[in-house]
Amino acid sequence: MKRAAGCALNRLSIDIMFDIPLHKLIIHFPIALAIVAFFYDGWAVYSKRPEMHDTGYGLTLWAAVTALFAIVTGLQIAGLGGISKGAITGHALLGMFTTATLVALGMWRYSSRSRQEGPDENYMIVWLIMGGLAAVLVVATAIAGHRLMFG
Ligand code: HEM
Repeated sequence: MKRAAGCALNRLSIDIMFDIPLHKLIIHFPIALAIVAFFYDGWAVYSKRPEMHDTGYGLTLWAAVTALFAIVTGLQIAGLGGISKGAITGHALLGMFTTATLVALGMWRYSSRSRQEGPDENYMIVWLIMGGLAAVLVVATAIAGHRLMFG
């Protein structure tokens, strides 16, 4: 009885929003935001236009927040048991590494900006490397997720 109620609640929480599964809806945000953030920061360094880092920073923060939601919704559907746990592990680990990289980068930049004195963020190249790593990881996560569904 209790179990049936739990299952009904689970179904409700993923079928909410006009029957669109939440994981599928959310994942597009970290994928797009992380890639575009890396593009902006890369372009800012290449074209020596530091003001473009403001956009890269904002996009990175939103990518981190939405990646956290992707983890929550991913764990939710993983718990429903449609796909074997073994198959999900690789995709889930990649998703967690992606999120950890984005959150670490976002927090590092946030903390550096809160101490900033001049008009421009003192942009570090290691942030570009982390942004590139996050972009590569999010693409790998998406490919692994897609393979889960279509083999
Ligand atoms: C940044 C994090 C993540 C991203 C970008 C991501 C991305 C994706 C993508 C692109 C798909 C395929 C969707 C499709 O082709 O329609 C997918 C499916 C899936 N993901 Fe994730 N994912 C993330 C994190 C996670 C985590 C942490 C888990 C948890 C265990 C998870 C579990 C799943 C499962 C079970 C599926 C199969 C979907 C289904 O049966 O409807 N994901 N994910």
